[in-house]
Amino acid sequence: MFGKKKEQPQIDKEQLELIKNAQKRIKQKKRLYVHFVIFLIGAVFLILANTVLGIGEDFKILGKEWFLFAILIWLFLLIYHIFNVFITHRFMGKAWEQKQLDKLIVQQKIRIEKLKNELKNEAPIIAKSEHYNDSLKKKEIAPELTIIVAAAENDAIGKDNKLIWHLSDDLKRFKSLTNRHHIIMGRKTFESFPKPLPNRTHIVITRQSDYKTPEGVIVVNSLEDAINAAKNDPQPFIIGGGEIYKQALLLADRIELTRVHEDFEADTFFPEIDTSVWKETANIFHTKDENHEYEFSFLTYERR
Ligand SMILES: NC(=O)c1ccc[n+]([C@@H]2O[C@H](COP(=O)([O-])OP(=O)(O)OC[C@H]3O[C@@H](n4cnc5c(N)ncnc54)[C@H](OP(=O)(O)O)[C@@H]3O)[C@@H](O)[C@H]2O)c1
Repeated sequence: MFGKKKEQPQIDKEQLELIKNAQKRIKQKKRLYVHFVIFLIGAVFLILANTVLGIGEDFKILGKEWFLFAILIWLFLLIYHIFNVFITHRFMGKAWEQKQLDKLIVQQKIRIEKLKNELKNEAPIIAKSEHYNDSLKKKEIAPELTIIVAAAENDAIGKDNKLIWHLSDDLKRFKSLTNRHHIIMGRKTFESFPKPLPNRTHIVITRQSDYKTPEGVIVVNSLEDAINAAKNDPQPFIIGGGEIYKQALLLADRIELTRVHEDFEADTFFPEIDTSVWKETANIFHTKDENHEYEFSFLTYERR
């Protein structure tokens, strides 16, 4: 169970590699030596074959004995062999390869460092231009979809398909902000108007397939279709009511909220504004007076 531990060889990988290489070199040199000896014997044999044994006596090349050429060709092969052993293998062997590799690695490291430095300098510029391109794309794809709403402190916005209060400056603000823009609304809100508002393109959302409206009013079957119908408007407005606000809050870029500083009984409410998503960018307080029964504030929120 507790047998003798097998002894690990004390030679590391690198040493082993060196030994293998040395053995290979010895073999190469031995082969060369044998080649040289065979060449000497062979050359003598070729000379004797011709001069003593008379082999190919009459055969001459360019007026010279044939064995001279045979020896010359062999000599050439021998020189090539010598070159291989002493030049190619010595200078272009494993060590040479490793040296070249090390050189390349050093060069690559220098290049990577250089690139890193360049990137460090250019990163803020790239980030800025990406941000710029993104904002351009955003502008191209979606105009600034704006929710406009008046809500009480308890988020009440309507009762019995009517508004709960009459605040003349709020209506004026609504008129001036939405003037000449597309106004997107639910069918119920549309029906709460005595007639379409002047200078605005009305888009009414309904699930009904044959909903009839006065001429000029666009009827669509979804919020997405409504936004699409207003795509050429740089600032289409979502004007209510409760159902449409709830869906549009996920898509809008901006909220123009009139916060009426009272609580009211109601049947329709505006969803709670999540301040981790929405940032308040403007806040104008309006006091009570003879035309305004309640205090209120004009608040602007932009998506963070
Ligand atoms: N305080 C404010 O600023 C303000 C502003 C606007 C309105 N309001 C008040 O809000 C109340 C009306 O709001 P509300 O929530 O009852 O109704 P609404 O949002 O105006 O309209 C609801 C209707 O819109 C259609 N609709 C909703 N989602 C749809 C979808 N995804 N696809 C297709 N059609 C869709 C349906 O029409 P169909 O039933 O025809 O299918 C639905 O019945 C009223 O009291 C109004 O006075 C207040």
